[in-house]
Amino acid sequence: MDWGMKNRLSRIIKPDTGRTVMLAVDHGYFLGPTSGLENPRKTIAPLLPHTDALMLTRGVLRTSVDPNNDIPVVLRVSGGTSILKENLDNEGITVSMKDAIRLNVAAVALSIFVGSDHEKETLLNLANLVNEGEEYGIPVLAVTAVGKKMARDVRYLSLCCRIAAELGAHFVKTYYCDEFEKVVESCPIPVVIAGGKKLPEREALKLAFDAIQKGAVGVDMGRNIFQSDHPVAMIQAVRAVVHENASVDQAYDLFESVKSSK
Ligand code: R5P
Repeated sequence: MDWGMKNRLSRIIKPDTGRTVMLAVDHGYFLGPTSGLENPRKTIAPLLPHTDALMLTRGVLRTSVDPNNDIPVVLRVSGGTSILKENLDNEGITVSMKDAIRLNVAAVALSIFVGSDHEKETLLNLANLVNEGEEYGIPVLAVTAVGKKMARDVRYLSLCCRIAAELGAHFVKTYYCDEFEKVVESCPIPVVIAGGKKLPEREALKLAFDAIQKGAVGVDMGRNIFQSDHPVAMIQAVRAVVHENASVDQAYDLFESVKSSK
């Protein structure tokens, strides 16, 4: 890995802890005005001081994030589908590497849909993006998207993560599952977890805690932060789990105390 690639990755996965709290706010790329993200600028701004990297689309980056921020950006560069259609797996690449570089991103991200009708296209999208990323020193995050028919279990998620690594992704985002340690052990690149649907805060903190204990390098969490009634308290509690090895009780106490101090 060359210097630029390593440097960009180290802006996301912090070298002092080897971990990261990424804030995922890219949901609108196929869901439109997702609950909690109707006004992205308003949602993102108070969370930025507690965020290691921001995952979003170029449209939201340009319109809703002040360029004076030095927040590392993980730019979603796949899309072309909407929630109105059945085939959410039929994604293409939506942003050129040239524009990603112009936007000064720390990494690019795309979804792969293993086991779906468009498996091959999405895997070749990954391989091609890695080829371009290698040329310019831009790391690639593969997001293991799960189709409606797929079980989010250890066998399937291990398959997705390992394929992402084999095709050259530099880090991978997946879901937490039972026996998650097996997903991590069989994947030679860093693994971060998505939060998934909104859970009660304590449950979301437990999800993050379990993932970290079983080898994840962090979270790329969206709804469980920005759909909380107290997103700033929630992201601080998640940070305590990820960077300080806080227990679920400690993190939840922190959530409660930040929440009531506001
Ligand atoms: C999904 O396709 C998006 O990439 C989201 O960023 C991802 O699902 C993480 O967000 P959440 O924690 O809300 O699941």
